[in-house]
Amino acid sequence: MNITYEFRLPSDINSFRRSVGWYELSPRQLECARNNSRFAITALDGEKEIGSARIVGDGGYQFFISDVIVRPEYQRCGVGSGMLNRLIEKALETVEPGETIMVNLMSAKDKEPFYEKLGFMRRPNEERGCGMTKFITAD
Ligand SMILES: CC(C)(COP(=O)(O)OP(=O)(O)OC[C@H]1O[C@@H](n2cnc3c(N)ncnc32)[C@H](O)[C@@H]1OP(=O)(O)O)[C@@H](O)C(=O)NCCC(=O)NCCS
Repeated sequence: MNITYEFRLPSDINSFRRSVGWYELSPRQLECARNNSRFAITALDGEKEIGSARIVGDGGYQFFISDVIVRPEYQRCGVGSGMLNRLIEKALETVEPGETIMVNLMSAKDKEPFYEKLGFMRRPNEERGCGMTKFITAD
C-alpha cells in the first residue's frame, strides 16, 4: 500500500456510500456537497480512491465532521484516523490563536471507539446532553 491524501472530495461520492451500505445522494445533494463542504479529504492507494471525509460548518466556530468512509477492504489500516487528523489540522489552520472551536459528529453505530481514540467524547455524559437527529424525506 502507498497511501496518500489529497484535500478534495472523491470523484464518485455515491460509490463510497454504496461500499458501506449508506443511501445514495441525489445529483442536487452531490452538487451541494461539492460546493459547500468547508474541508474535504480523499485517501488514495496509488491512483485508487479508498477513503473520504469532509467538514461542513460556519468556518468560525461550528465544524461538523461528516461522511467519514474507508472502503471495507482498507479499514483498520490507519486510513480513517489519517484522514481525520489531517482534516482537523487543516480546519485549525483557519482559526486564530486563542479561539475555541466546536468539532461535532454523529457516530455510526459501534464506531464510537474509533472517534474516542481521536479525542472525541461520548454524549450524553454528566455535563452534556445527547446529539439528536431527524431524517426527513421530502414529498
Ligand atoms: C469507521 C471508519 C471510518 C474507521 O476507519 P479505519 O480506517 O478503519 O480506522 P483506523 O484504521 O484509522 O482506526 C484507528 C483506530 O480506531 C480503531 N477502530 C477503528 N474502527 C473501530 C471500530 N469499529 N471499533 C473499535 N475500534 C475501531 C482501530 O483499531 C485503531 O485503533 P489503534 O489506533 O489502537 O490501532 C471505517 O471503519 C468505516 O469507513 N466504516 C464504515 C462507514 C462508517 O461507519 N463511517 C463512520 C461514520 S460516523
